[in-house]
Amino acid sequence: MEFSIKAAAPEKHKTDCLILVCFASGEPGPQLAAIDAASNGLLGKLLKRDLDEKAGSLLALPTLPGTAAERVLIASLGKRAEFNDKALRSALAAIGKWLASSKAKSAALCATDLIAGGLALPATLRTATALLMDACYRFESVRAKPEDKPAGPARLEFVLQGKSDAAARLAVEQGAAIAAGQSLARDLGNLPANYCTPSTLADTAKSLAREYKLKLKVYDREGIEELGMGSFLAVAQGTREEPRFIVLEYKGGKAKDAPVVLVGKGITFDSGGISLKPGEGMDEMKFDMCGAASVLGCFRTIAKLSLPINLVGLIPATENLPSGTAVKPGDVVTSLSGQTIEILNTDAEGRLILCDALTYAERFKPACVVDIATLTGACIIALGHHTSGLLANDDDLAAELLKAGQASGDRAWQLPLFDEYQEQLKSNFADMANIGGRPAGTITAACFLSRYAKAYKWAHLDIAGTAWKSGADKGATGRPVPLLAEFLLKRAGL
Ligand code: BES
Ligand code: MN
Ligand code: ZN
Repeated sequence: MEFSIKAAAPEKHKTDCLILVCFASGEPGPQLAAIDAASNGLLGKLLKRDLDEKAGSLLALPTLPGTAAERVLIASLGKRAEFNDKALRSALAAIGKWLASSKAKSAALCATDLIAGGLALPATLRTATALLMDACYRFESVRAKPEDKPAGPARLEFVLQGKSDAAARLAVEQGAAIAAGQSLARDLGNLPANYCTPSTLADTAKSLAREYKLKLKVYDREGIEELGMGSFLAVAQGTREEPRFIVLEYKGGKAKDAPVVLVGKGITFDSGGISLKPGEGMDEMKFDMCGAASVLGCFRTIAKLSLPINLVGLIPATENLPSGTAVKPGDVVTSLSGQTIEILNTDAEGRLILCDALTYAERFKPACVVDIATLTGACIIALGHHTSGLLANDDDLAAELLKAGQASGDRAWQLPLFDEYQEQLKSNFADMANIGGRPAGTITAACFLSRYAKAYKWAHLDIAGTAWKSGADKGATGRPVPLLAEFLLKRAGL
């Protein structure tokens, strides 16, 4: 979908679909008022009769006399007194969903009315662009024939009453870049594990590196052995599929600027290993690389925007399978940090690959490190599917990420990393066990990681509940690309 901004009188604007928003009560915005007048008050009457109050309710008119548009779609912003960011997002999500299945080839959204509730224009345009583009995402790369109907209009214009400025245009560009990153993350997540292997993740990094002139180093099994990543290798030893350790660098900042390091869990299929998972729903463990996918997605966003920051992406990638060569419960392995680990459960494999990547991160002398992982089922029990878990060894970094989540509508919530929980990782045979028992599973997993992240400011995002949806809408969400993109935009001073 191509986005642009246009100054035009909405009633005279030619488009396949004119989109308007309105509050359930009070004065209409100037653009809605203009269309109402052009229709001789018909629009107002129809809205009063047929549009529900709730934010996100829609009324689609196949035609409206007095306007140049083929169709008109009106979305409710809810009650004016209750208007907020969430109401705006509900309305935009509903519009996006409608557009995705409509036959309109072009659409024009009256954006002056969109900010009648008092939100800033640039922020609103950024949100609208990202949300509408994401709503028209479609995955069909493993179907024999693609659908012949396009997913959503090819062009979307934001119609403004006055002239647009550079800030508005930049905001649209940013929204489109966020959606492009999110769409890459969704594509990789949705690909089945026989298509998306560790090598596929490395190839994706390679094409990003080629397109945006990034620095890339990819280690194979032998290279990972030479690095000394004994913990990562313990997970990889059960599969014949080649593991990869991906190191991607974007240098948009000054040479001496300390980089932000993103570490993404890249388990392309998690069977649990010898501690085999139950069969039901096991297909969803193809999504266990969504942390890695979000890192690659972020690189796409950040490189598209040429952000003035330095960014490093680290992705340990492997399958977790049972076999005659697989690691066994009770085995003790030595991590890159030198600390030894008793693997009591081979299904707690995410932390085993991440810990070595966290140690590797030290060499970049990072400004901060954020790891992103579908790490624990316990996080779904704690926070469900709406909110990512956040744990950190630095309160300012945690606050920064929480704020980015709030601003992007891709929210996280902090859980404590109190010392008391570390005791659950005690092992009788090694420096630590890889599991901490049933209580506080998300916290003990983060406690494990924290032992490898002492050299820098570090935060961990547990996205087990937010990275994909189950049921009828099964599929990757591309989260937390919006949160991370917002975080990095703010770091870049934008
Ligand atoms: N990838 C899973 C976590 C997961 C489970 C994400 C379900 C989304 C849905 C992770 O590798 C795992 O298996 N974790 C175990 C840890 C346990 C053995 C301590 C879990 O959560 O059960
Ligand atoms: Mn597992
Ligand atoms: Zn896993």
